[in-house]
Amino acid sequence: MNVTAAILHAPNQPFQMETVELDGPREGEVLIQVKATGLCHSDLHVCEGNVPWQFPALLGHEAAGIVVECGSGVDDLKPGDHVVPFLIPRCGKCAYCSSAKTNLCLEALARLRPREGRFRLNGKPITQLWGLGTFAEYTVLPADTVAKVRSDAPFDPICYIGCGATTGIGAVLFSAKVEAGSSVVVFGLGGIGLNVVQGARIAGARMIVGVDTNQAKESIAREFGVTEFIDPTSIPKLTSHLMKMTGGGADYSFECIGNPTTMRQALECTNLAWGRSYVIGVAPHGADVCATPAHLMMGRRWTGCYMGGARLNQLPELVDWYMNKKINLDSLITHRLRLDQLNEGFELMKKGESIRAIVTL
Ligand code: APR
Ligand code: ZN
Repeated sequence: MNVTAAILHAPNQPFQMETVELDGPREGEVLIQVKATGLCHSDLHVCEGNVPWQFPALLGHEAAGIVVECGSGVDDLKPGDHVVPFLIPRCGKCAYCSSAKTNLCLEALARLRPREGRFRLNGKPITQLWGLGTFAEYTVLPADTVAKVRSDAPFDPICYIGCGATTGIGAVLFSAKVEAGSSVVVFGLGGIGLNVVQGARIAGARMIVGVDTNQAKESIAREFGVTEFIDPTSIPKLTSHLMKMTGGGADYSFECIGNPTTMRQALECTNLAWGRSYVIGVAPHGADVCATPAHLMMGRRWTGCYMGGARLNQLPELVDWYMNKKINLDSLITHRLRLDQLNEGFELMKKGESIRAIVTL
């Protein structure tokens, strides 16, 4: 079939609206009509050439839609089902899938490398970013990478649960398992960081410190649960300030920027014995992080998580949390766009004017 898609032909170029050819679903695949798809910072990393990829490419990975057709061997989905794709499939066969120690699947790692997709432009193949690709009216995806969700939940905003919301909320509740009464420092109060903040509030954290160079983030951060806001440009010794503020170091910190300098600060502001610091932000390709070994010797732990440590089968529960108003997504959706406005949407992200922009189809 022919479908309209926003294609990126090379890094640092605008998206081009194209009519592309899409093959029907093969064995184990599903054809999905995309109803809403979010603009994520990770897509921007690819647009800017900070994360290598093969072009021309169909980007977009945070989405919600309706199953239109199932390939052979797909038993657990049927046309009409509402679904949210997820970057981590459940192949169900690998050592990772059967381990309780990780939410990863070896297939997820394999799909981080470009391979042939189901789209073509004038007969030439188009890659699907990280095995997904949702900046199109329709897409074909492996069935093991989509979660079936309740049909009364609105596509916009539940598409956000496919990546950003889950990455932030899950980091706190599924990965760190923050205890009630904890002190938490969140670096970067964007589409990810604010979800970390709401996760920390749900966990019952006593103190939630938000650190962001953009003063304009303070009011939404407070609405989401930040108890103290810090603009680091106004504090000369940020880490010792944070150590004092938290009474000897935070129990947990989360870096939601993708900057090696703030990653180090996030480690150093935690309690020297039991502090745990989570790297969530994606640093530019080839970047290194540094630490003083003494800062680790007393027991601090420096770690990270992918997709908040969530598994595909937890997505329906997160949708329930939205429907039951346990989590707030609506206040984070600042812009709604058409597919042909993707370039404007990413400009808003670069300028820090949007929290989450969603394309509705
Ligand atoms: N110190 C403090 N805050 C900073 C700094 C800094 N040095 N640099 C940027 N920020 C703030 C910005 O002002 C913004 O509010 O970090 C926030 C980043 O938010 P977004 O741009 O909305 O990014 P987000 O979508 O939240 O993603 C953050 O996580 O998943 C990754 O790829 C993603 O690397 C990206 C990171
Ligand atoms: Zn697997």
